[in-house]
Amino acid sequence: MNKVLDAIRERSSTRGYTPEPLTEEELDILLQAGLQAPTAANRQEIHFTLLSGSHPLLQELEAEKNRLREITTPAHNFYYEAPAVVIISADSTYKWGSLDAGIAVENMALAAQSLGLGSLIIGCILDAMQGEKKAYFADALKLPPAYEYKIAIAFGHKAVTKEPHTYDASAQITRL
Ligand SMILES: Cc1cc2nc3c(=O)[nH]c(=O)nc-3n(C[C@H](O)[C@H](O)[C@H](O)COP(=O)(O)O)c2cc1C
Repeated sequence: MNKVLDAIRERSSTRGYTPEPLTEEELDILLQAGLQAPTAANRQEIHFTLLSGSHPLLQELEAEKNRLREITTPAHNFYYEAPAVVIISADSTYKWGSLDAGIAVENMALAAQSLGLGSLIIGCILDAMQGEKKAYFADALKLPPAYEYKIAIAFGHKAVTKEPHTYDASAQITRL
């Protein structure tokens, strides 16, 4: 029927992936969906850092998150062993950076859904990215100067399925 509405309705977080890597074409489509997101005043300041799920920096982020949260035996890593992760950053001094990053990440999640891929939006590394190792991670991830982590998203082929979340529209919508 309407493919955009289908993707919005059917998307849900994927917390389990097969090891199958994404193709370059799939990665390009996902990154392009982020680039095509609107930004305040069309500033297009959002930056996307693509990492393979095996990148050592992801293991370092995982270790730092667990250290800060005092987790000694994690059941899974923060991106559920997905084959691809994108870190989205923005100028820390720009007032719309977080909102622009949020819009971009949802564009990417919906693009993944439309390709039949799973995705997971990831906020849980915020403290690790903005804590005492902030400068180290920003440098290692090659974030542009004065940029900081806003959100991340994992992508891959679904190894598990989950129904879309339910909601109570009557509690969340006011019509005046
Ligand atoms: C800003 C934001 C941060 C999130 N961070 C995490 C996270 O760190 N780990 C995780 O497993 N899910 C994370 N999620 C996914 C939410 O838990 C999920 O979207 C929510 O439970 C609704 O489920 P659904 O995505 O399947 O509809 C995040 C979602 C958002 C929007």
